[in-house]
Amino acid sequence: MSDNNNDIPGVPVTRRLPKTPIKEIGGRKLKPATLMMGHGYDPKLSEGSLKAPIFLTSTFAFESAAAGKHFFEGITGKRPGGTDGLVYSRFNGPNQEILEDRLSIWDEAEDALSFSSGMTAISVLMLTYCSAGDVIVHSGPLYAASEGFVAKVLSKFGVTYLDFPAGATREELDTLLDKAKAMAAKQGGKVAMIYLESPANPTNALVDIEAVCDARNAVLGEDGPPIAIDNTFLGPLWQRPLNNGADIVVYSLTKYVGGHSDLVAGSLAGAKKWMDPVRALRNTMGGICDPNTAWMLMRSLETVELRMERAGQNAAKVCEFLAQHPKVEGLGYLGMISDTRQQDIFDRHCSGAGSTFSVFIKGGEAESFRFLDSLRIAKLAVSLGGTETLVSLPAAMTHLSVPDERKAQLGITDNLVRISVGVEDPDDLIADFDQALAAV
Ligand SMILES: Cc1ncc(COP(=O)(O)O)c(C=O)c1O
Repeated sequence: MSDNNNDIPGVPVTRRLPKTPIKEIGGRKLKPATLMMGHGYDPKLSEGSLKAPIFLTSTFAFESAAAGKHFFEGITGKRPGGTDGLVYSRFNGPNQEILEDRLSIWDEAEDALSFSSGMTAISVLMLTYCSAGDVIVHSGPLYAASEGFVAKVLSKFGVTYLDFPAGATREELDTLLDKAKAMAAKQGGKVAMIYLESPANPTNALVDIEAVCDARNAVLGEDGPPIAIDNTFLGPLWQRPLNNGADIVVYSLTKYVGGHSDLVAGSLAGAKKWMDPVRALRNTMGGICDPNTAWMLMRSLETVELRMERAGQNAAKVCEFLAQHPKVEGLGYLGMISDTRQQDIFDRHCSGAGSTFSVFIKGGEAESFRFLDSLRIAKLAVSLGGTETLVSLPAAMTHLSVPDERKAQLGITDNLVRISVGVEDPDDLIADFDQALAAV
């Protein structure tokens, strides 16, 4: 949210944000963990309330007709750069704007947008950039609903896709983008977007973002399509994809950012030039995060670093135990990568291994079910990134709709159990996994 200096009566006073947010002290750039406590909010504007109130309103009163017109010029794009006032709760609101300011800090992005779910963020993003005849290039696997949106929904509007395995090399990416370019030309469209998910759900396979960026620049030009990446598994702490060449970062805030398994939301972050067209479509379609959820997310952002650090430490300890267990066939944990290419990508892109990983139980679905049904602390539920440990069997749950052939190709087997480790005592968790494996 920007300050404005125009002299239209009523324009400045509708803002709930401090005019000069403090981002540094004595030349020291403040860290995100510090900024989460107050950035973008001034208690003086809300009766001294330390925490931002929840603004439950569908619309905002203008202080003058001229102010209303000025704000609408921003909403409709008549004046570039978006609106600088509060207008109507399908477009913006104080809670969402403070949240978006704070989200952009983590990824050092110019701008951020909040949504009612991760899937809303992804759908509105893709609809913004894809037109009939276009090709979308994406890594695989993607979260099943993202993959389904591309294959089953965008296809209804004449958008086709090409996908590539997460670990693809620069040479493979060049070849693929050449093919996508030819395909788009034949369809009378363009390569509209390169969409990545890294680490991928549920395999934890990493995409070489730097190689994707170099390939895009070489084959499609630096002003080619945006590279968007779903950073839900490692963000915002352990991977900052904008620093590796991505243009847009995508989150299901439902996961680590929300962090308590009590809300559903999503976000996008990136340069304003990429966010503005998405904001315009969000204004039309709706799908902005509601004020209550935005407030809860601000609460969550205050502890996101603490929670993620603890969950990461717990996961390392749990994986050490699981790796040596005779009933475990293998692990898909970023702290124990066996493939040299994947390790190289990890070293260049990630600062931590996360707390969501896959464990391959010796046997098949029956043995995995027995393991899941025997757990007593870890909860049997889809989702991840919460304070509590969650376990699920993607092949039978989140990825059930993925055709068997593609599941096999992507390594989503019947014995791949996905575990999202929370912030419990790690030795209690190990005791739980130990007794559940004994029951297999
Ligand atoms: C990697 C990833 N991206 C996106 C989503 C969708 O997010 P939401 O459930 O908030 O719509 C999920 C949900 O599990 C996910 O795991």
